[in-house]
Amino acid sequence: MIGHDLISIRDLSNAAIEGLFELASEFATMPRGRLDLARDAVMAALFYEPSTRTRMSFEAAMIRLGGQVISMTDPGASSAAKGETLADTVRIVESYTDLIVLRHPCEGAAQVAADFAGIPVINAGDGPREHPTQTLLDLYTIFQEKGRLAGVTVALCGDLKHGRTVHSLVQALARFGAHMICVAPPGLELPASVRQQLTDQYGVSCAQYASLDTAPLDDCDVLYVTRLQRERFKDAEEFERVRSSYLVSRQTLTHARADAIVLHPLPRVDELDFALDGDPRAAYFRQAAYGVPVRMALIAAVLGLRPVKLSNAVQSSGVSDSWRAVPPSEAFTCRNPRCITVMEPGIPAWAQVHADGAHRCAYCEALQEVACPAS
Ligand code: NCD
Repeated sequence: MIGHDLISIRDLSNAAIEGLFELASEFATMPRGRLDLARDAVMAALFYEPSTRTRMSFEAAMIRLGGQVISMTDPGASSAAKGETLADTVRIVESYTDLIVLRHPCEGAAQVAADFAGIPVINAGDGPREHPTQTLLDLYTIFQEKGRLAGVTVALCGDLKHGRTVHSLVQALARFGAHMICVAPPGLELPASVRQQLTDQYGVSCAQYASLDTAPLDDCDVLYVTRLQRERFKDAEEFERVRSSYLVSRQTLTHARADAIVLHPLPRVDELDFALDGDPRAAYFRQAAYGVPVRMALIAAVLGLRPVKLSNAVQSSGVSDSWRAVPPSEAFTCRNPRCITVMEPGIPAWAQVHADGAHRCAYCEALQEVACPAS
């Protein structure tokens, strides 16, 4: 699927992901250096939110493919500070480059960029919504470490409400036949929209535990830990209530299997004990390192530098998507204050309706409490 966008992990079929992994393994075994594959291509990295691993591994991937990179890493130093909209920015950047990698705080921002830019857009995180390329390297790590995805049991631990890596990962794990349990402090469980996606599309529901002490860690092959997403909390008081509510330590791992692995998208703050780093089960630095070959594979596929079949998941993986566009007879306003259609002017918002009558915004996918006017 040359030239396609990657907004959600649902944009990739299982076969496409496996194809990317084959290519990533090829790139991973090559000696360090630069290939000549992307000689004529330029990638734009537009980062409206902080990043270390995602941006630098994307940039390293493009450079190692032989391409060039231009980056916007501080929105305060770009025209965004003067009030330029994302839609306008990407319409400019498309004339300078061949590929946009975007991280943005607003939900649905990557879809807006994809709608307005005539070049492929890769979502490197749109607020708390999705982070599909992190999922690619998370899956790749599990596959490398455990040799399979089907039947693997993964405990997802931490701020599952705001953590975008988990929102993409659970969908992919469900599709590949992995089992999941969720361990989250009360109030930080998976959002309703993600849970609905899981039951609806994959017939999966996750057992929920409020603490690591009660979760059956001895059943798990993978412990996937995430930090509290402090920047996404609505108020400081709510954050203080859950602060330091979980810590994965050597003591925690005494309850885990000898061959279990600990993953974390990083950065860690205070949920993952530094004393774990020497334990062979601590796989998070290996996981981060896979970011380069996995992103090399993705860039190569999207730019058509190497053949990989990237077909649409909804059609090719047999998953039925029960959401349909609401006929655009009347104006729709999303009720999610963090949605890009609410935060920025000039984006014609539209809604989708589910087979069961629920409505959601087509950009941020937030369920709408009140039925849309057009229904
Ligand atoms: C994650 C992110 O930005 O969502 N980091 C990353 O991309 N490796 C996780 C996080 O910030 O907690």
